[in-house]
Amino acid sequence: MSYPFQIKSFDEYKSAYKKSVDDREGFWGEVGLSFSWRNKWDKVLDWNFTEPNIQWFINGKLNITENCIDRHLKDLGDKPAFIWEPNNPQDRVRIVTYNRLHKRACQFAQVLKNNGVKKGDRVCIYMGMVPELAYAILGCARIGAIHSVVFGGFSAQSIADRLEDAKAEYIVTCDGAYRGEKIIPLKDVIDDALVGNKTVKRVIVYTRTRMPVSMIKGRDVWWEDEMEHAETQVEKNNVVSFPAEEMDAEDPLFILYTSGSTGKPKGVVHTCAGYMVYTTYSFVNVFQYKPGQVHFCTADIGWITGHSYIVYGPLAAGATSLMFEGIPTWPDAGRFWDIVDKHKVDILYTAPTAIRSLMGFGLKPFEGKDLSSLKVLGTVGEPINEEAWHWYDEHVGKKKCPIVDTWWQTETGSILISNLAGITPAKPTFATLPLPGVQPVLVDENGVEVTGSPAGGNLCIKAPWPSIIRTTYGDHERCRQNYFSAYKNLYQTGDGALRDEEGNYRITGRVDDVLNVSGHRIGTAEVENAINMHSDVVESAVVGFPHEIKGQGIYAYVICQHMHGDDDSMRKNITQTVARIIGAIAKPDKIQFVKGLPKTRSGKIMRRILRKIAEGETDNLGDTTTLLDPAIVEEIKNGKV
Ligand code: WTA
Repeated sequence: MSYPFQIKSFDEYKSAYKKSVDDREGFWGEVGLSFSWRNKWDKVLDWNFTEPNIQWFINGKLNITENCIDRHLKDLGDKPAFIWEPNNPQDRVRIVTYNRLHKRACQFAQVLKNNGVKKGDRVCIYMGMVPELAYAILGCARIGAIHSVVFGGFSAQSIADRLEDAKAEYIVTCDGAYRGEKIIPLKDVIDDALVGNKTVKRVIVYTRTRMPVSMIKGRDVWWEDEMEHAETQVEKNNVVSFPAEEMDAEDPLFILYTSGSTGKPKGVVHTCAGYMVYTTYSFVNVFQYKPGQVHFCTADIGWITGHSYIVYGPLAAGATSLMFEGIPTWPDAGRFWDIVDKHKVDILYTAPTAIRSLMGFGLKPFEGKDLSSLKVLGTVGEPINEEAWHWYDEHVGKKKCPIVDTWWQTETGSILISNLAGITPAKPTFATLPLPGVQPVLVDENGVEVTGSPAGGNLCIKAPWPSIIRTTYGDHERCRQNYFSAYKNLYQTGDGALRDEEGNYRITGRVDDVLNVSGHRIGTAEVENAINMHSDVVESAVVGFPHEIKGQGIYAYVICQHMHGDDDSMRKNITQTVARIIGAIAKPDKIQFVKGLPKTRSGKIMRRILRKIAEGETDNLGDTTTLLDPAIVEEIKNGKV
């Protein structure tokens, strides 16, 4: 596998960038030639940001699994596509070669077909980090079904909402999932999500933990039985085949739900060709991947990072992707370093929150671990603080591995702003320069572009790149409103950023009511809705506060009708309610009971004040004269938890 589009020097970056802006279509048309198409496109791009209507590689026909698997079989058939490291280090590692992956993806595509799944149908995938999760994703892509992976930490209610929004008729799950010393009962959660559901026709259950599950007659089937049957259908005389569905470039590939500033998660839709081209392009360039290297992205496939940099990007590049089932701190805080040593990992891509939590364990976990195979380190998901950056550089990279700070979003599909490892300069805490094809701009509150440097403002992007969001599932207007309406002809990211004299970008955090907790996006409105479900709660307001490990923590101000029991038991009840409604990831870190909230005369909560109090700021609260009841602020200040 060679990558004609791999950038090899800073000068090459500059000329690629220039070309991508001067001749966008020519540039991406050339990159597109490195992929395998059933039919080439007629036109590279058609777009406007007003509707929005964005189409890449128009009338191109392809199947992404042929690009991720079939085209590699001749040269890489017996090379590992995945190395799977189980939760329990004593358990057996699984190596999935490209040949094996081909067989499993074909088999699972056949299973889906046998169960009535057709092109365009939505399949919800709620599994732990097992290779079968990748087979499920690729099986869907092979027959053209739209997968919607839901992270294993979401609750039954969250799944039910997502099933309904996507009108999903099929589910793939596991009996349970291992996470450190815990077992998560995934099938039980699915059963709860399906109470009263009349749409879901079939649940396919993979056995991972052998915990007891209730299989419902006519609805639930075992993965193993289905796969065994399908094997005889796809394999004849030792030849495996399952014809991949021919997809249009702009047919949806997947839906992935993410939080915004309103109460309801949005189903971000990505399409086949643009997502494939840009994800692969960014993978090969940012990490400077070389054939044969082992790439270890520690994310969960339930998030966009796992979609793009465990599954699709690496596979389309014919890479070896390491998939890890466990958590960084179990059985001890040396887990990542064991894995790096054992599998001679070349590239490690993780989140600042993981780095900060490992920092707390000191240097002992590194003892006896050989990290010399590492060549590139990456971070994603939230701003990385200086201290964590230097610790990562010194103790993990031993000061010889470039660190790529990759900024992007579920909606962008792939990395937009990042240094290219060893090729373009790094600058601690800066995501640095845009990738070719990406035109960031900073705008002020009035939507006026802030030119020159240094500068700060709301980060927007001027023109489409191939893996930009196409729509929010079932509600295109919501997509327009959310991303394309605040500023004319710009994609609005929702992040604030600074730009230095060299044009490097530093992302400062969200400018909307979205929190970033351990690198996971959580809408404050969503958490408030969940808290308000508790029968004793009258009203609540949720803000973020700086958290040493998680980046941001969740601080909830809650008004109760009457308190049943003491403050602590009430706090536990509210926390439990949030875990039930959204999932454990959204549990508030702090709950303060208050008699009232600071509101303007028109009834709007002044979050600015609540945010400051939660951050520990008590003096400069700004103008409080417009408040309906300024005295309430004093009371809240005094009751801070
Ligand atoms: C934040 C994750 C600073 C940002 C891929 C963005 C970052 C949100 C970085 C998207 C980074 C992501 N530096 N902040 N390198 N990467 N973010 O959709 O606020 O889960 O808007 O996608 O994470 O989160 P999402």
